[in-house]
Amino acid sequence: MIRINENFTKLKASYLFADIAKRVNAYVAAHPDQPVIRLGIGDVTEPLPPVCIAALHAATEEMANRATFKGYGPEQGYAFLREAVAQHDFKAHGAHVEPDEVFISDGSKCDVANIQEIFAADTQLAIPDPVYPVYVDTNVMAGRTGANNDGRYEGITYLDSTAANGYVPAPPAVATDLIYLCFPNNPTGAVATRAQLTAWVAYAKLHKAVILFDAAYESYIRTPGIPRSIYEIEGARDVAIEFRSFSKLAGFTGLRCAYTVVPKTLKARDAAGHEHAIHALWNRRHTTKFNGVSYPVQKAAAAVYTAEGQAQTRALTDFYLGNAKLIRAAVHQLGLSCIGGDDAPYIWVNTGRDSWEFFDLLLNKAQVVCTPGAGFGKCGEGHVRISAFNSRENVITALARIAAALK
Ligand code: MLT
Repeated sequence: MIRINENFTKLKASYLFADIAKRVNAYVAAHPDQPVIRLGIGDVTEPLPPVCIAALHAATEEMANRATFKGYGPEQGYAFLREAVAQHDFKAHGAHVEPDEVFISDGSKCDVANIQEIFAADTQLAIPDPVYPVYVDTNVMAGRTGANNDGRYEGITYLDSTAANGYVPAPPAVATDLIYLCFPNNPTGAVATRAQLTAWVAYAKLHKAVILFDAAYESYIRTPGIPRSIYEIEGARDVAIEFRSFSKLAGFTGLRCAYTVVPKTLKARDAAGHEHAIHALWNRRHTTKFNGVSYPVQKAAAAVYTAEGQAQTRALTDFYLGNAKLIRAAVHQLGLSCIGGDDAPYIWVNTGRDSWEFFDLLLNKAQVVCTPGAGFGKCGEGHVRISAFNSRENVITALARIAAALK
């Protein structure tokens, strides 16, 4: 008789954002005359930059023509995009990344979910709390944790991110092998300084650990001096993998394009102590399980690196940061404290009450969707995340409704 992977039974019944969507859909079905404004899941609302649209059209024309038609591309991505990434996202910022260390993919969610496959089953995990749930859930599926007791899985070293540490956890006192970091942070919007990242790189070196650095929100950094990449930190090439995405940078959530950087100098050991290049393992995995991102989408992504593309994506992220500023001001006016929103599209609000209760209150009284902090982990209790991804008009309306609901 076929049996299931019982690790799946340790998971919460549904994925956080699926759970929220179910509640919101039920509300909408019961109140069709009350339009809901979604500031929950971080999904972009503004159209693609014109330079990306032009590249998509041009590439589609190439696909329509026998002489320029393309079938399968390289699984790792076309050289034109890998080279542009290495040059503009790293070399231009003083970080060393080679084009063949860049693996183009269809999303950072899949990449951060899949990467754990190449590490041993008994890998010791260090995962922040609150956290993007994908990091935890994929390790639960892989059997690296025990049961969930009181909101936490056995076998994970949780890195509490709270007001006490400015929402940036320091390395733990115990040794771990695989560390998940995300800056600018989802869900808190906090950013890590050079000194804080330097401490993490030193910790990883000491314990021969690997840092998985999720930089999906890098394009929102505005504070001078905040590192945009872990590779700006000396020695990081020997201990870190970085994930980046075109989703929040250029509105690609529906188009799908991202990349993962695996430096060739990054090594890990087998049980006998022999070193292996992670790059070779990831390349093996990627070429076996993935057939590349479509050519038109990679052309659209490459257009981001033109002068026009840089100006247009900057305008897009500036626009969402403008929403974030309005949200922060409105939250303060309500007498609540919050962080985030300066270098990230998320505002982390300390509601002082049960986070699902606050979610329900905003949905029922203001018809506004936020994300309950408890969905991101135990330390998220008492908080909600408000996303800045929406039109200006909707953000202004949502804030007015929230103010009226909480009066
Ligand atoms: C979020 O809301 O946390 C994001 O949409 C997650 C993601 O990009 O998958």
